[in-house]
Amino acid sequence: MTKSLYIKTYGCQMNVYDSARMADVLAPLGFVPVEVPDEADMVILNTCHIREKAAEKVYSELGRLRRLKQARSHGGADMILAVAGCVAQAEGAEIARRAPYVDMVFGPQAYHRLPEMVARAGRAGGAVLDTDFPPEAKFDHLPAGSGQGVNAFLTVQEGCDKFCTFCVVPYTRGAEFSRPVADVLAEARHLADAGAREVMLLGQNVNAYHGLVEGKEDWGLGDLIRGVAAVDGIERVRYTTSYPAEVDAALIAAHREVPELMPFLHLPVQSGSDRVLAAMNRRHTADQYRRLADRLRQARPDLALASDFIVGFPGESDTDFQATLDLVTDVGFAQAYSFKYSPRPGTPAPMMDAQVPEPVKSQRLATLQDLLAEQQRHFNDTCVGLTLTVLLDRPGRHPGQLVGRSPYMQAVHVDAAAAEVGAIVEVRIDAALANSLGGTVVGSPDGGRAAPGDGTRQVA
Ligand code: 5AD
Ligand code: SF4
Repeated sequence: MTKSLYIKTYGCQMNVYDSARMADVLAPLGFVPVEVPDEADMVILNTCHIREKAAEKVYSELGRLRRLKQARSHGGADMILAVAGCVAQAEGAEIARRAPYVDMVFGPQAYHRLPEMVARAGRAGGAVLDTDFPPEAKFDHLPAGSGQGVNAFLTVQEGCDKFCTFCVVPYTRGAEFSRPVADVLAEARHLADAGAREVMLLGQNVNAYHGLVEGKEDWGLGDLIRGVAAVDGIERVRYTTSYPAEVDAALIAAHREVPELMPFLHLPVQSGSDRVLAAMNRRHTADQYRRLADRLRQARPDLALASDFIVGFPGESDTDFQATLDLVTDVGFAQAYSFKYSPRPGTPAPMMDAQVPEPVKSQRLATLQDLLAEQQRHFNDTCVGLTLTVLLDRPGRHPGQLVGRSPYMQAVHVDAAAAEVGAIVEVRIDAALANSLGGTVVGSPDGGRAAPGDGTRQVA
């Protein structure tokens, strides 16, 4: 009997990947994904806890779902309501208390036990709670997955031991864990067989990857990238998210030598002030980050850098904030995310002196975002007139239009037939917008199976 499954995903790409795996685990029980929760037999909220208000958003969504669940049970059917992900990990028992109609609460390491939890939820009165940690078990028990289309995510590493003083991830995702090389390569082959041409290697701290080969040899991320790039059918490789202090020479060499490795790197810096970086426990200075950016660009001159920033961290002065603006000006980013510092319970930073007032945070954020938007716009403008390889991955908003990604991760809109989804084509870029590019297909390097990589962009 088929049953319908609705998963709402919040937060990062790791959660997107985890949601896909949950759907895979539940498929043998007859669960088929649907787009709306209204008629669903099971609803999972896959939550994110990284910034404030996440938990409150979950509770208000649960309030809405409670009404759907009640309406269904009056009709004689039942809806299983589950909360997964990092909010579940961080406040499992609290959810069970505040929302007793929730059937299951489970953390990021418990997905492989979902079928068992579904069975228990049928019997139990009250929520089934599963917020244990060991990720090894999770990866050993997850099915290979049904394929995710031309762009696929592949989790290679989980957890974080860095304990930045603002961040909940080490508490919600647990210690760093790397999947064995053979498992990663097997999943990459499986994804390629299912049609993936681009693979995004995922990890909270992906460049902390240290994978075992036959129980001994230790592969770092640079080796793993080479291994995945060598898988037949995989023509593009990316990875996210990285920790600057752990970018090693082998990873930089991969940027120089592996054409499949796309020239775009998300490398969060958080702040440009050494004082703030130290208080954040980031283990690198602003100048070390500048030098790292230089070394990466020596290896791959057209590398586009992206970053994350936090403004208004406790103790951040005007001078500290100016140092962040200076770093942005010096490095130059193609894209960035920036946030006001938000105190997370259980982390050290909320206890620090000199919390920054909200209006100051807002003002700094606006100033920083203006600068970052200008840089992104400038970066996009420099692409006009170039020919970039684009992997077309989805329909556009208008009929006859498709969207894909440039090597630099920009969305590129082109006119193309729907059958072209999955093709890697050469696109002459005609127009740049704030967040995307428009262009004309001028060729397909080898009849749809394009040559990997693309180095046509030169940075000034
Ligand atoms: N406040 C604001 N931003 C945060 N981030 C993580 N924790 C916090 C917090 N407490 C941001 C960081 C990180 C990104 C995923 O979210 O910039 O890189
Ligand atoms: Fe959080 Fe820092 Fe770990 Fe990134 S490196 S996940 S910001 S603790």
